[in-house]
Amino acid sequence: MIYTLALNPAIDRTMWVERMDFHATTRVRRESRYPGGKGIDVSRVLTGLGVPNVALGFVGGFVGDELECRLGYEGVQTDMVRVSGETRTNIIVNETAGDGRHLLLTAKGPKIDPHELGTLFRKIENLSEPSMMAIGGSLPRGVHPDAYRRIITIMKRKGAMTILDADGDNLRSGIQAGPDYIKPNRHEMSELVGRELNGLEEIVQAAEEVRSQGVGTVLVSMGADGMVAVGDGKRYLATPPKVETVNNVGLGDSAVAGFMYGLANRFELKDCLVHGTAAGTATAMKPGTARANREDVMAMVPRIGLRDLMRDEK
Ligand SMILES: Nc1ncnc2c1ncn2[C@@H]1O[C@H](COP(=O)(O)OP(=O)(O)OP(=O)(O)O)[C@@H](O)[C@H]1O
Ligand SMILES: [Mg+2]
Repeated sequence: MIYTLALNPAIDRTMWVERMDFHATTRVRRESRYPGGKGIDVSRVLTGLGVPNVALGFVGGFVGDELECRLGYEGVQTDMVRVSGETRTNIIVNETAGDGRHLLLTAKGPKIDPHELGTLFRKIENLSEPSMMAIGGSLPRGVHPDAYRRIITIMKRKGAMTILDADGDNLRSGIQAGPDYIKPNRHEMSELVGRELNGLEEIVQAAEEVRSQGVGTVLVSMGADGMVAVGDGKRYLATPPKVETVNNVGLGDSAVAGFMYGLANRFELKDCLVHGTAAGTATAMKPGTARANREDVMAMVPRIGLRDLMRDEK
């Protein structure tokens, strides 16, 4: 089975207003509530792509109930650990007038008790025949940054592939366990190697440095410029077409899910990369925090350009 892990999931509450008024009442024109958080997002897109998977993580309180119900409604399987605190709600306000400003308020989420963390670790230790796990996002209060290193170590011991999408200390700690894949964006990659990265060549060079620390394949997503994959003797660049984007939330998560769709179907690295890039771009065209579905992704796949960077060099 394929698993995703979301230690600090959320309900993303998006509201559309004409213009925010800080001196009077602002009327909300439209609202949506969707399950959110990195692992959850990956699970939603994977499910939409027809890839069976189970979302693991922590949920608590009424919002935790809502999160599980909404996921169930979308057909996403879950196996959550109940915690005493309440799952967080993030607030996104989109203005429809003017330049379409956004306000994004991300909440902290509940503090996790040691015994709740212990329950999750036991669950992970006891997963039967996991094939792959997507791990990522911020860590809730109470969880040490070392958690990702420990989880990746357990999954590797159990023979599962691991894909890490995190930043800062969480990414650094996860890398110590030698994940099969990491997917930082350009900015996170530059923070990881401690220098600015200008142009493709510098990104590829930085990816090779990170690979030498034990990471299998490094995927660097670059927004509208697409995504690079640097693996063992393989370097590819996938580029999306120019599209009208209406959303910039969770594109990286969709890219991870599209890539995993490729892995689950035993595609070659370059085809996994194309599907990942297609999924990211297809979600960029979906309003609110809705996600690209199978049809959207498959329609985008033939529009993605692919370059073999190894061949370019020769
Ligand atoms: N403006 C855009 N036009 C077309 N495709 C895009 C655009 N922005 C992002 N994408 C697609 O989404 C993928 C991931 O985007 P990005 O690099 O912004 O991820 P990220 O920064 O990790 O996002 P997140 O905020 O979800 O963590 C890109 O590789 C690309 O395929
Ligand atoms: Mg990201």
